[in-house]
Amino acid sequence: MKTSHLYLFLHVLLAGGVSVRAFDPVTTTVAIGVGATLGRMILNYFRESCDSKWIAFNLTGLETDLENKLFGQHIASRIILKAVSGFMGNENPKKPLVLSLHGWTGTGKNFVSKLIAENIYKEGMDSSFVHVFTSTLHFPHPSQYLTYKSQLQQWIKGNVSNCERSMFIFDEMDKMHPGLIDSIKPYLDYYDKLDGVSYRKSIFIFLSNAGGDRIIQTALDFWNAGRNRNEIELKDLETLISLSVFNDNQSGFFHTSLIDKNLVDFFVPFLPLEYQHVVQCALSEMKVRGHEPDFEVAHKVAKDLVYFPKSERAFSVKGCKTIESKLDYYT
Ligand SMILES: Nc1ncnc2c1ncn2[C@@H]1O[C@H](COP(=O)(O)OP(=O)(O)OP(=O)(O)O)[C@@H](O)[C@H]1O
Ligand SMILES: [Mg+2]
Repeated sequence: MKTSHLYLFLHVLLAGGVSVRAFDPVTTTVAIGVGATLGRMILNYFRESCDSKWIAFNLTGLETDLENKLFGQHIASRIILKAVSGFMGNENPKKPLVLSLHGWTGTGKNFVSKLIAENIYKEGMDSSFVHVFTSTLHFPHPSQYLTYKSQLQQWIKGNVSNCERSMFIFDEMDKMHPGLIDSIKPYLDYYDKLDGVSYRKSIFIFLSNAGGDRIIQTALDFWNAGRNRNEIELKDLETLISLSVFNDNQSGFFHTSLIDKNLVDFFVPFLPLEYQHVVQCALSEMKVRGHEPDFEVAHKVAKDLVYFPKSERAFSVKGCKTIESKLDYYT
């Protein structure tokens, strides 16, 4: 589709070039003017804009992606589909959607954020309406948090003024200065408008490892009791997470009013991944690379990883995180 338009564009330009040579100066000026306008129109056609051509929620897309690409996260998968489809289907939300994703490393938090972005924005994570902040990268010095604070507020305001369907992903939220977290609070609340800007159609996603050990403990209890992890329910974890995050003074969430004021709509737990999930991740990565799935290699990769606790060897220490580079080594 895009390529065919590009051919048309080149064709018009070339045709324009030929006729410019053939005519007198006045016609040439007109031709150049028309060419420039046409060029601008074509460029605008390809430039991402804040409208339904570029931003359209694909419910079945998200559903199948969560089902086929995300492994071992039945709770996260269910909450995210419900939360995002409910929010995107509501023409007049009362507040922005705020999701807080929690869990051990390599369990799919960034991965899910990417799936959400891809099913809302045509350009996915490359969209100019999707913004990622990583605490240690963008806000490295706690002493400078006042500067970061005003920059961040202006940045959020500027971007939402530009497009109300903006998405903000805050990575390593647990390493973020509590004052900085508090500073984004007004945008997450039930305000009609703040300084003339409405934030109610934006999405905020927080990623962190906070509460991860409580999730692991629950998963391990199920494992030790010989129970299927699919039996773990949100209610087994939700309060646990918000409480442990709230009371952990190592965590940036510590006593911040995000939790106080119930501004987070959903706490989404990510379970630690087992051997079988690592195998699935390896097979899936082969598919992405356009290779035939090789079960033998997938098992080799999975066997090579480290699992914890040492006695049970229940969960992969790095989740699915190092699979990509491991595959390079085995293939
Ligand atoms: N549950 C999962 N299902 C499918 N693939 C996964 C899953 N978890 C992780 N992966 C794969 O591993 C890669 C790394 O995962 P991701 O970056 O999402 O981890 P994370 O939860 O954000 O970890 P961290 O807390 O260390 O940031 C992903 O790009 C994806 O390819
Ligand atoms: Mg991550």
